[in-house]
Amino acid sequence: MYSSKISGLGRYVPDNIVTNDDLSKMMDTNDAWIQERTGIKERRWVQEGSDDTTASMGVKAAKIAIERASIDKEDIDFIVFATLSPDYYFPGPGVMVQKALGLKTVGALDVRNQCSGFVYALSVADNYIKTGMYKNILVIGSELHSHGLDKTTRGRGVSVIFGDGAGAAVLSRAEATSKGILSTHLHSEGEFAEELIVKAPGMGTRWVTDILEEDDPNDESYFPYMNGQFVFKNALVRFSEVIMEGLQTNQLAVGDIDILIPHQANLRISQFIQKKFELGDDQVFNNIQKYGNTTAASIPIALTEAWEAGKIKEGDLVVLAAFGSGFTWGSVIIRW
Ligand SMILES: CC(C)(COP(=O)(O)OP(=O)(O)OC[C@H]1O[C@@H](n2cnc3c(N)ncnc32)[C@H](O)[C@@H]1OP(=O)(O)O)[C@@H](O)C(=O)NCCC(=O)NCCS
Repeated sequence: MYSSKISGLGRYVPDNIVTNDDLSKMMDTNDAWIQERTGIKERRWVQEGSDDTTASMGVKAAKIAIERASIDKEDIDFIVFATLSPDYYFPGPGVMVQKALGLKTVGALDVRNQCSGFVYALSVADNYIKTGMYKNILVIGSELHSHGLDKTTRGRGVSVIFGDGAGAAVLSRAEATSKGILSTHLHSEGEFAEELIVKAPGMGTRWVTDILEEDDPNDESYFPYMNGQFVFKNALVRFSEVIMEGLQTNQLAVGDIDILIPHQANLRISQFIQKKFELGDDQVFNNIQKYGNTTAASIPIALTEAWEAGKIKEGDLVVLAAFGSGFTWGSVIIRW
């Protein structure tokens, strides 16, 4: 068995900043409500007419990650792409990254695990590396939410939360050491699939032709639906559980955490966990204030920013944790 380590990180967010005050011009909301409930001050939304797509933003983040890994792009031998907002219904964006980077015919896998997408993607890549199947895997999380949100008062409970952006990591083979990804932990609970969902178009239920035929202006089925308080309560429990599971697997304790990078779902969720685990402000990294919830992109953007800011040093214990639609949740324990 080999070890796997993150050898390069990159991020990309669109230039266009949308503040809470900007949103209050589109719908009945206000800065105080959004900040108090979520901590979000602003988010990035791809400007109309921009070339940015989920795949192309992923490529931009990936190029930075590859450069920082000090490898040639030809050294990438597999791609894992996590998103809930692919450019096309199919194929997924993994193959578009393969094409854009000119990576001959390397395999590309798409992961559909929403806010846990990057954690799931990293887990897949980690195991491919550890078993010796691949040497350098490009792992991307990218989302273009803004085109699919209900930007009227009807959608305000969801739309104010989500932002666009991309993050990427190169995961590389290392000789077996006590460093790198120590373990990953994945869970799901499909019983609650409908609590955070975009129902249409669904291949087996209601396809695009049905929607067009019905042409119902009150149809909300192609916008995200979220049972906010139920999601919130489940997130608090699952985040805590899966962080503890990861630590205990490695005979570690909460006090060993140097930095926790939680999926940026809601600042109040991060603060709850910080308080529960008695972590200091410098032990929990948050950037939801600037970007909102960028789903599969949130952890790689936050991890990259934390690393760029010098908050992650060699030997640090870095914990990633996510929860989201599915429900799905997971954690990654890394010795940097
Ligand atoms: C979405 C969330 C911020 C909403 O906060 P909340 O305290 O649960 O608020 P509620 O949905 O109960 O709504 C409270 C009131 O605010 C209103 N409201 C909802 N969105 C609003 C907005 N953007 N601006 C102003 N008012 C809003 C509601 O209509 C409701 O009004 P009412 O009391 O008159 O009916 C919160 O539930 C949450 O963060 N949930 C988890 C989200 C999450 O983590 N999602 C991603 C998982 S990966």
